[in-house]
Amino acid sequence: MILKIGVLASGRGSNFQAVLDAIKSGRIKAEISLLISDKPDAYALTRARNAGIEAFYLDPKDFFSFSPAKDAYFEKIAEEFTAKGIGLVLLAGFMRIVKKPLLDAFPWKVMNIHPALLPSFPGLHGQRQAEGYGVKISGCTVHFVDEGMDTGPVIIQAAVPVRHDDTEDSLSERILKCEHKIYPEAVRLFAEGRLHVNGKKVEIKGARENETPLISPPIEE
Ligand code: GRF
Repeated sequence: MILKIGVLASGRGSNFQAVLDAIKSGRIKAEISLLISDKPDAYALTRARNAGIEAFYLDPKDFFSFSPAKDAYFEKIAEEFTAKGIGLVLLAGFMRIVKKPLLDAFPWKVMNIHPALLPSFPGLHGQRQAEGYGVKISGCTVHFVDEGMDTGPVIIQAAVPVRHDDTEDSLSERILKCEHKIYPEAVRLFAEGRLHVNGKKVEIKGARENETPLISPPIEE
């Protein structure tokens, strides 16, 4: 049976698009069945609808009367994904901490992409933090999601050089190109049943040399 993917997004959705494109090209054997956004004007909603994928806005405020409100919101999301037979949940620029009800319903089946080399620079603005710190190498990380902030087991990372004249924007742009490579790659490995979480480590079964861009080559522009 084909893997069904559910997506949570808050913004432009370029990583969602990268995964969708990899599915369309046949590189990933899966389908995206549902996209849910916590923002009514997220461009990710438009991208999904343009691709004929069911997508809707779910207002977190509708769950404020429940206690605890944040858990109720994620209970609802878990229900929606379960009803669709989702086997993998992708956070694609989703600007909320995922709560237990969703993680319990999808154990080691929720992935996130973060624009820094974790465990460095977790949380908001990973690119700004890296540029401000003055590191010479940053990058991006795909990881399984646990209850912490960007603390779950790492699946794939790509390194990106930081240049002396970089701004937050120029670095973000260079990192984003790598994000669009490694997120589909992680999803492909998952769809092929090759990712196994062992404590803090993710083993990639049957990894062939140069199959996985664990470290990206410098990007020439
Ligand atoms: C990306 O930089 C991702 O790493 C971070 O949020 C941003 C989302 O961009 N989690 P997009 O919505 O996928 O274009």
